[in-house]
Amino acid sequence: MSVSDEELVHLAIEARDHAYVPYSHFSVGAALLTSGGTVYQGCNIENAAYTPSNCAERTAFFKAVYEGERSFSAIAVVGGAEGQAISDWCAPCGVCRQVMREFCDPDHFCIILARSEHEYRSTLLREILPESFGPDTLERAETTTTHSGEEG
Ligand code: THU
Repeated sequence: MSVSDEELVHLAIEARDHAYVPYSHFSVGAALLTSGGTVYQGCNIENAAYTPSNCAERTAFFKAVYEGERSFSAIAVVGGAEGQAISDWCAPCGVCRQVMREFCDPDHFCIILARSEHEYRSTLLREILPESFGPDTLERAETTTTHSGEEG
């Protein structure tokens, strides 16, 4: 059974309630859809030392990867002041975009942003992370090295 964008947004809103945000008081929720139709929810989890804080998107990805998932089709992300309904778009931070790039095809992976339960829009990873560095960059370099080695 496939999960609609609207359902995914609903699951991200639900996930936001689990956020641990005693420092920023900005809670974020994410719902990550695998190619097989399973959804992994995530929230942001902050830390007194600040740097170890984890974003909602990465919580969802790391939960999924731990469970053996490697293929994803979309993620819904919502965020806003703790204890209040969402009212503005919350785009993934740069670090989370890079984590998406590790596992997702930039031309197909959808990022769904919502500023209310029924107001959402979808974009592709390629759009929010152009000219990106990913596993294929290293693979291409490896191939080049092997070839030049053979020729030399
Ligand atoms: N945050 C996320 O969870 N996802 C993002 O992509 C943007 C930022 C969190 C990190 C921190 O806990 C809070 O929002 C304020 O930056």
